Amino acid sequence: MPVDIPAGAPATMGEAFAHINALDKPTVDQLKVMVLLEAAGQELYRQTATGTDNAEVIALLEHNGREEMAHAHRVAKAIRAISGEDYLPPAAADNPYLAGPLPSAKLTAAGLRGLAQSEVAGEVLYEKWATNIGNEEAAKLFRQNGKEEVEHGDRLIEAAALLEA
Ligand SMILES: [Fe+2]
Ligand SMILES: [Fe+2]
Repeated sequence: MPVDIPAGAPATMGEAFAHINALDKPTVDQLKVMVLLEAAGQELYRQTATGTDNAEVIALLEHNGREEMAHAHRVAKAIRAISGEDYLPPAAADNPYLAGPLPSAKLTAAGLRGLAQSEVAGEVLYEKWATNIGNEEAAKLFRQNGKEEVEHGDRLIEAAALLEA
């Protein structure tokens, strides 16, 4: 069953990303939006990977995708640490942000390099949240996600180079 978009959160994925990226210290409801976006990341990477036959590029994109779902689980754990509430990442079919308009999944080297920059910006965001959240376990989980966002950026740069080879 599709899950509801958290109270007060934007209705579309693009707006939800903009909303989340502007936060210095997320509330629990805002962290739920992050759970949905990270979980959707796996499906977005899967769709992007359908744009190429290059097996190495596909493997890099799917590796990032699996980790986005792991990030969703870590944010869910952070919610539990902060509020005691259970909020589990939904499967793609139940994710409300995947039912609306999605960012273009067109696969080009330039597109992957742009995405790499968003991934690196994700590390900056998680580090800011870790600093401000006031919960040691949540901060640790955010920093682990942030470290992997940098690795996602590196994989995308690698994938872009493979597309151009
Ligand atoms: Fe992520
Ligand atoms: Fe990522």
